[in-house]
Amino acid sequence: MSVKLKAKNILFQILNMLPEKVGYPIYHKVQEWFDTNNIHYKINSSHNSYLTFERLAKESNISILGKSVIEIGSGWLPLMPYFFKYMGKVSTVETYDLNQHYNKNNIATLNQEFSDKFGIPVESEQNGKFNLPEGIKYYPKTDLTKVPIRNAELVFSRFVLEHVSPLGIKKMHQRFKKEIPEAYIIHLISPSDHRAYVNKNLSNQDFLRYSESEWKKKHTRFDYHNRLRLPQYLEIFKELGYEVLFLEFESAIKNSETYKKFKTVPLHKDYQKYSDDELTAGSINVVLKLK
Ligand SMILES: C[S@@+](CC[C@H](N)C(=O)[O-])C[C@H]1O[C@@H](n2cnc3c(N)ncnc32)[C@H](O)[C@@H]1O
Repeated sequence: MSVKLKAKNILFQILNMLPEKVGYPIYHKVQEWFDTNNIHYKINSSHNSYLTFERLAKESNISILGKSVIEIGSGWLPLMPYFFKYMGKVSTVETYDLNQHYNKNNIATLNQEFSDKFGIPVESEQNGKFNLPEGIKYYPKTDLTKVPIRNAELVFSRFVLEHVSPLGIKKMHQRFKKEIPEAYIIHLISPSDHRAYVNKNLSNQDFLRYSESEWKKKHTRFDYHNRLRLPQYLEIFKELGYEVLFLEFESAIKNSETYKKFKTVPLHKDYQKYSDDELTAGSINVVLKLK
């Protein structure tokens, strides 16, 4: 294990022992210190995701003009909400997160950078707590599996579902099914082993070597990853009655470097029933609608 990965691991294990009220604010500070991506990178990366979203919406005949949107997992900056508002011209975006990562100064900087890059004036609401523009509401410290869902015509998530427990994913979708049965749901999922971002020697599927109990000991609520494979996600959606309107993903190409690395991982028996394509399926983009 790399030194960086080991240090992060130990730190998260210590934070995990603290009560949530103490652990989460320290985690926020630590993440802030270690964040090396600048705002331009973040804007471009989310812009790419928005273009992906537009493509999926077009393929699925979904129009978001004037619609109300819920985002699961706000992260650090309201980037997807800005794209939905200023490019998709939606009416409202409500964005929920377990943590509170937004802050007034960072959002003031984003407002300026977003205006400069896209030539769109971004005006924050008078006296708003986070400098957000009208129509964007932030619900931090909120678990979307536990709160009632207000009216929404589209639910969106970007790089979130892999960090929610299988039971949490089921509960969320049960809520959507009951409370917003007409809504379209679009998820961008990144199911690879995130430790491989830090340790380049690791395969994107390295974590599939562990049993469930071994994996539990290797991570905490701060870096939780469910390890669900593509067929498992699809099974959860199908069981709840969701139809997959559109699905795309990228599997490792045979004999590529990624594939060769994957083949060195001794798969735990829980994963041996899946094909190589299913196990390595990454960048999963899926559009759901109740039948
Ligand atoms: C990897 S981040 C992605 C954030 C953002 N969507 C982005 O693309 O940068 C995942 C976020 O989902 C949030 N999250 C995970 N489970 C959640 C839940 N049940 N309800 C609300 N937010 C959740 C986490 O707190 C975290 O901020």
